[in-house]
Amino acid sequence: MSTFFAALPASEVSATQPRRCKVDGVDVLLVRDALGKIFAFENNCSHADKPLDRGVWNPQTREMLCPFHKAVFDVGQGGLVKVGPAVVGLQVFAVDVRLHDGEEFVFVEMDDSN
Ligand code: FES
Repeated sequence: MSTFFAALPASEVSATQPRRCKVDGVDVLLVRDALGKIFAFENNCSHADKPLDRGVWNPQTREMLCPFHKAVFDVGQGGLVKVGPAVVGLQVFAVDVRLHDGEEFVFVEMDDSN
């Protein structure tokens, strides 16, 4: 079973820098691609359990580069590893934009077991 949780106002999510937030206790990054589509994924590189928020997001390719050992994750393809040393992909979450208190808000789907 999963539930959508309110994360951030959609206006705070950009294509230039991942925006960090906690969603249901999970450290999540929110970004947009070049077309404005919003993606949410865990702020954790599977290679050495390090945060990705100081990495480089490419809005054209929808890829996230880890700042530590340069692994690349294809967020647009469900978080698959594109370049090692990581071998396990990123967890990418479903998102929905809904009106919340009169403002467009990003909701992120979380498994209730979190
Ligand atoms: S911690 Fe990300 S590649 Fe090593």
